[in-house]
Amino acid sequence: MSKYVQVAIDGPASAGKSTVAKILAKKMGYIYCDTGAMYRVVTLFALENNLSLDQPSELVKELDNLVMTFDYVDGLQHVYANGIDVTNDIRMPDVTNHVSKVAAIKEIREELVNRQKAISNSQNIVMDGRDIGTVVLPNADLKIFLVASVKERAERRYKENIEKGIMTSLDELQKEIEDRDYYDSHRKESPLVQASDAIKVDTTGLSIEEVVNVIENELKKVI
Ligand code: CDP
Ligand code: CDP
Repeated sequence: MSKYVQVAIDGPASAGKSTVAKILAKKMGYIYCDTGAMYRVVTLFALENNLSLDQPSELVKELDNLVMTFDYVDGLQHVYANGIDVTNDIRMPDVTNHVSKVAAIKEIREELVNRQKAISNSQNIVMDGRDIGTVVLPNADLKIFLVASVKERAERRYKENIEKGIMTSLDELQKEIEDRDYYDSHRKESPLVQASDAIKVDTTGLSIEEVVNVIENELKKVI
């Protein structure tokens, strides 16, 4: 058991993991780690450097040359790859469309899981992703598995895109979410699955504040 408090939040795409994890971390004074952002940085790196995802040995080798750092500006997490701010670039559709393929590569997962474990060994943490409760933090004090109907998840992402000025079709978004969930749940390496000791929270119809309250109450029972 770590001497630091560990909260693991897993679940499918757009269930609200990063939004609630960020708010919870801030309220509790814990650090927040968005592991999806790490897989996205590697994907961006591969795309920008024309590194093959089908024959990933080159990408795996090049990973040693990729330094990822995170910091917070006005409460927003910024992500840097070798010192360059890639916060917006890692959300581009091209990255989203390739990230699950990168995340299925065994050696990439091993490397990123090691980096994630190292981060969690130094401070109280809320970490979100797909395999946090099952692989990265198997002894976490609290494990939450966030879900919501696929329709609502697509609508949330759609609204978010409109606010950012990005025009997308709701149907396409729903398909992208369904495809990615399928791929993430059916891969060989650390598939997306609820840990046996995780608490499932269905956020369909719940506001962000309501979800944060549910998790905060669960956390207070164990710390
Ligand atoms: O778009 P969304 O915020 O839902 O996804 P994300 O958390 O940024 O994660 C992007 C992708 O990274 C996921 O679809 C997974 O393929 C992969 N991922 C993973 O395999 N394991 C994690 N711990 C986190 C993300
Ligand atoms: O990290 P993950 O992919 O699970 O989802 P997210 O990026 O945190 O949330 C996706 C979108 O849903 C964001 O725009 C959130 O503001 C929104 N959201 C919501 O409307 N209601 C919730 N209960 C949770 C998130």
